[in-house]
Amino acid sequence: MKLNKVTKAVFPVAGLGTRFLPATKSIPKEIMTLVDRPLIQYAIDEARAAGIKEFIFVTSRGKSALEDYFDNAPELEAALIKSGKEHLLEVLKETNMDSGAICYLRQNRPMGLGHAVWCARRLIGDEPFAVLLPDDVIAAEKPCLQQMIEAHEQTGGNMVAAMEVPPSKASSYGVLDIGEDMGAIVRAKGVVEKPKPEDAPSNLAVIGRYILTPKILTNLNRMKQGQGGEIQLTDAIAEETAEGNVYGYRFRGQRYDCGSKAGFLQATVAFGLARPDLREELNGFLHDLISMQKAAQ
Ligand code: UTP
Repeated sequence: MKLNKVTKAVFPVAGLGTRFLPATKSIPKEIMTLVDRPLIQYAIDEARAAGIKEFIFVTSRGKSALEDYFDNAPELEAALIKSGKEHLLEVLKETNMDSGAICYLRQNRPMGLGHAVWCARRLIGDEPFAVLLPDDVIAAEKPCLQQMIEAHEQTGGNMVAAMEVPPSKASSYGVLDIGEDMGAIVRAKGVVEKPKPEDAPSNLAVIGRYILTPKILTNLNRMKQGQGGEIQLTDAIAEETAEGNVYGYRFRGQRYDCGSKAGFLQATVAFGLARPDLREELNGFLHDLISMQKAAQ
């Protein structure tokens, strides 16, 4: 199958981030740090590794720190050179984006994830594109989006990252109704947004990585309100299941929901323990803390 290469990615970052108030009153959620790098850096690195060349951010008021983060920092660089901290210059370089590779556009009101993606329609044009939600941080040997792009080369169409969740958690996700199970890839015959546990059509939940066809933007054009009165990306994808054109991909990796406090804390511990420079000290601290808690019980 000859497919257009996926070279554009949309990062919807216009949400209010209410679960992290009061921090998100002045700090964009995506700039909050996991160990020593902001959430958005993990998503950008994953996209770059998957061959993405154009990065489209859908932002909102109060997100200027995000724009500054990807800019060059000449004063800081000069100060690091002067003080002989060349190794930190290398760390900084990873955050710089080529001129013109990144663009920001505004979603004027938080009308839902589907609406945020629709805002990028003119920049996407008529090609398949990726969507990455930086809240979902995925630790994987091969980056999740790269796995998906490889799987997408076999299927074409729309592809969503999927993972198994217990029924009690189904109401936090879009859940796939499985038509055909081919192992790592499933063909979906429906997608239900945030079902009650008894209504969940499977235990396969959609998480924040997508490869989508431009047809999704046409569906979003209708501005149909879904759950919570928001324009839902899931609804626009679900419309395509009638065409047999939506695939779920069981990615290999560990996903952390950094949009929730518990998920963010879990990711902090896991990523801290994965770092050779922090592992020993953090491990010792956790061990002592747990022992103390057990003794106090
Ligand atoms: P969430 O559902 O996590 O909402 O959005 P949120 O506003 O970020 O956080 P809470 O729930 O209030 O704490 C999922 C993703 O969709 C984006 C968010 O920025 C996040 O990346 N989004 C959501 C938009 O860009 N625009 C919207 O209107 C809604």
